[in-house]
Amino acid sequence: MDDTRPLGRSALRVARLGVGTMTWGAPSGLARFTPAKLSYGGADGADEEAGAFAVSLTRGATLFDTAAMYSNGASERRLGELARGSRAVLATKFPAGPRGRTEDLPRALEASLARLGRDRVDLYQHHYPSRRVDITRLMGLMADAVSAGKVTAVGVSNYSAEQMRLAHGALADRGVPLASNQVQYSLLHRDPETDGVLDACRELGITLIAYQPLASGALTGRYLSGPRPRGLRRFMPYFRRSNTESVGAVVALLREIGARHGVEPTPVALAWLMANESVLPIPGAKNARQATANAEALTVHLSADEVEALDAVTTAWRPRS
Ligand SMILES: NC(=O)c1ccc[n+]([C@@H]2O[C@H](COP(=O)([O-])OP(=O)(O)OC[C@H]3O[C@@H](n4cnc5c(N)ncnc54)[C@H](OP(=O)(O)O)[C@@H]3O)[C@@H](O)[C@H]2O)c1
Repeated sequence: MDDTRPLGRSALRVARLGVGTMTWGAPSGLARFTPAKLSYGGADGADEEAGAFAVSLTRGATLFDTAAMYSNGASERRLGELARGSRAVLATKFPAGPRGRTEDLPRALEASLARLGRDRVDLYQHHYPSRRVDITRLMGLMADAVSAGKVTAVGVSNYSAEQMRLAHGALADRGVPLASNQVQYSLLHRDPETDGVLDACRELGITLIAYQPLASGALTGRYLSGPRPRGLRRFMPYFRRSNTESVGAVVALLREIGARHGVEPTPVALAWLMANESVLPIPGAKNARQATANAEALTVHLSADEVEALDAVTTAWRPRS
């Protein structure tokens, strides 16, 4: 059975769930101190990365997300190694560093292709808006890459509704759809519902790729008692002691619903996002066990009452519009 669907209105077909590979790879030198590793530490070793990749692919979570910037290309290199010869759909992002400019795109794309070991990127995304990048010109270069057969679908990330409309229009002038906007979205970070991004996605037929869909691990419940996570991640609001009670109430409900469906809390948190047809979560997994649990989200179908109950218990985390 084909469980894939088009990403936005593009020609790229994807599963409803992906995998974030930001922590994968073994960087050396200064690349060990880039934000992904400083925030999360690495995955649990090369064997666990391979296990997480294989189990995700087998269970149908076939979209793998990386970026040129993650550990200075080490994540792309590792994903490319693991995906060689497989049907994995690979998504990566431009630019390679914080100083990246519009005109750097063609060279950055070649470098990403070399690290991934492919001659085409399935989904090429602009990582975040910056004053060094002109969105209209960049989308022109993205469209050139599509025409050259080096990119299948074009996406953006961390774009506001207004920036999405600008990118969408610039691509439409070249006959290319804007396939996705990758933004932070979870039960504990509900900004896309009030800042216009989710509405713009629905209106324009763009998929919202949800990053940090487990609130960086807070929704697993693992950090509610005992030490907070190591790395910069511990300064996120979800891990503040003052929020223990409110996060605890969400995790308790995830556990209760999970018990009903015979799964852990994390697939329930992901299924809540997936209840919205426009949303595709990409949870990070550091090992095969986490990837296995997360992939269960593909089999969990929440009732309308369950979706509503989760909505209600996280209202405090929804900013006012
Ligand atoms: N576009 C952007 O600007 C942007 C920004 C951030 C992330 N992203 C993308 O989004 C992906 C996911 O985001 P994220 O990794 O930051 O946050 P996340 O998916 O919310 O959290 C991932 C973390 O939660 C823990 N975890 C995952 N599954 C678990 C399970 N089943 N049981 C227990 N713990 C589990 C692991 O950390 P521990 O085991 O250490 O607790 C894992 O590293 C990234 O890999 C990246 O591809 C994009």
